Amino acid sequence: MPLSYGCLHGRIMKCLTFFLLLPETLRQSKKSVKSNGKIPACCEIVPPSLKKMAAEVYPGSANTSITNSNSTAVTTNTKKNALQLQQSPPPPPPQLQNLNNNNIESNNWQSFHPTLRERNALMFNNELMADIYFIVGPPGASKRVPAHKYVLAVGSSVFYAMFYGDLAEVKSEIHIPDVEPAAFLILLKYMYSDEIDLGADTVLATLYAAKKYIVPALAKACVNFLETSLEAKNACVLLSQSRLFEEPELTQRCWEVIDAQAELALMSEGFCEIDQQTLEIIVTRETLNIKEAVVFQSVINWAVAECRRQGLPITPRNKRKVLGKALYLVRVPTMTLEEFADGAAQSDILTLEETHNIFLWYTATNKPKLEFPLTKRKGLVPQKCHRFQSSAYRSNQWRYRGRCDSIQFAVDKRIFMAGLGLYGSSCGKAEYTVKIELKRQGLVLAQNLTKFISDGSSNTFSVWFEHPVQVEQDTFYNVSAILDSNELSYFGQEGMTEVQCGKVTFQFQCSSDSTNGTGVQGGQIPELIFYA
Ligand SMILES: *[C@@H]1O[C@H](CO)[C@@H](O)[C@H](O)[C@H]1NC(C)=O
Ligand SMILES: *[C@@H]1O[C@H](CO)[C@@H](O)[C@H](O)[C@H]1NC(C)=O
Ligand SMILES: *[C@@H]1O[C@H](CO)[C@@H](O)[C@H](O)[C@H]1NC(C)=O
Ligand SMILES: *[C@@H]1O[C@H](CO)[C@@H](O)[C@H](O)[C@H]1NC(C)=O
Ligand SMILES: *[C@@H]1O[C@H](CO)[C@@H](O)[C@H](O)[C@H]1NC(C)=O
Repeated sequence: MPLSYGCLHGRIMKCLTFFLLLPETLRQSKKSVKSNGKIPACCEIVPPSLKKMAAEVYPGSANTSITNSNSTAVTTNTKKNALQLQQSPPPPPPQLQNLNNNNIESNNWQSFHPTLRERNALMFNNELMADIYFIVGPPGASKRVPAHKYVLAVGSSVFYAMFYGDLAEVKSEIHIPDVEPAAFLILLKYMYSDEIDLGADTVLATLYAAKKYIVPALAKACVNFLETSLEAKNACVLLSQSRLFEEPELTQRCWEVIDAQAELALMSEGFCEIDQQTLEIIVTRETLNIKEAVVFQSVINWAVAECRRQGLPITPRNKRKVLGKALYLVRVPTMTLEEFADGAAQSDILTLEETHNIFLWYTATNKPKLEFPLTKRKGLVPQKCHRFQSSAYRSNQWRYRGRCDSIQFAVDKRIFMAGLGLYGSSCGKAEYTVKIELKRQGLVLAQNLTKFISDGSSNTFSVWFEHPVQVEQDTFYNVSAILDSNELSYFGQEGMTEVQCGKVTFQFQCSSDSTNGTGVQGGQIPELIFYA
């Protein structure tokens, strides 16, 4: 069911909705039609069925005490309903399609619900005493929703003005084509009952509705929900929308994730769905923590998706065309010569002349003028938290020999863990193989199996996880290292339980994973490397 919304906002909601969905849904919805270029093409994507949304909005609300008495389902469930009635307040009426909710089984239903909140909640999406109806959603996919002016006016200044202000509407039906029915019901449910039921596929539309009707508590809940579901794979899409919502904190959070986890963010499917303007803003970003070859690849991925959206054959020429000036934001000459030769130079995206000039630029004394930016991105500067005040070595320790060194830590601000600094040999140059891991409650969040060479000094040597991993505040994690070498190694002493690194405070605790003596006081894993 292709939806052709007249309203930009409605389409954008769809767009976002799409990105917070599960991967299966994501794949199914890939058939996009031609878009006019201005609106992000993902907006063409078919949303999850409204029925499904409704089901999510009212989990377990199938049978209630106030419902259509003509429905057979209800007659067969009467007993159960009566039981429910005594145990807990019955949930609100079920389906949008089934709006004849005014047949109340008991003419004394009020007495079964001792609190105002319960009684009021029963009136949510209920025709009983309704004095206003909303036709919500785009034409063709709209729903008729009954409501009570008083309740709405008490919950929102916009509704107050609408019903009781100087310009109050006298209509008994109000059309709201730009709000999604599911989102409108979440808004109403909150106004009737204080309950907030957010889901990944409705949260953006709900944020839009909460802002439109000036219901800040609900808007805040939406932003919190988005912030916690923010990941590398949806950060770019969310960024493209957060400006629309004027939520600077959300925008800021998006940038933090995009910067630190730039490779994951730019290589995600979501990145291919952003609009041209967001593409340019992201590719211009100075602080992306990324290899330029990956930026180039991600821009090409986007161009392929854009060709599809515009119904163009996927040719190098068309890819260039849809990229426009975005191509010249990629800092091609800052790649290594090898990266350029193996990647961009063979992509057919650059003209022969450009390729030729870039090769000359790498090697010739007289460098040709290039259209691409020549300075490397600043990226992010890794910070190091050093937990020991001194280090030492002795003739009988430290030997690693494949035992696990582990330490538990927590931070007071969200960070991105990038790697560990480790001690090396105390007897001259030596090579170590090392397996590092970051775990939370036994779950491996990041690891790497790598090697490092130490030079006999008491310096630390950095080993990195494959990608920086987000570490939540006030939560304990385990980091561990398993090293193997015959050499004696340095070890740390005078360890601290609390270490301040810039704006972040680390707390350390011993981990029972540690089998070779590493703890808060001393041992290995002297440094945590992170981005903040
Ligand atoms: C229930 O059914 C009767 C007869 O089939 C009909 O007259 C009545 O309007 C219906 N009530 C509702 C609420 O649908
Ligand atoms: C509601 O009624 C339907 C249809 O009879 C039934 O399948 C379902 O189990 C009932 N749900 C509850 C919570 O009673
Ligand atoms: C760290 O590892 C130990 C041993 O496996 C475990 O008991 C502890 O719960 C872990 N801590 C966290 C925060 O996951
Ligand atoms: C492990 O880390 C090294 C750098 O320390 C990196 O080059 C390598 O790609 C990483 N391997 C994996 C599997 O992440
Ligand atoms: C670690 O284990 C090795 C034996 O595998 C031992 O020689 C060394 O002393 C241990 N280090 C500590 C600090 O317990």
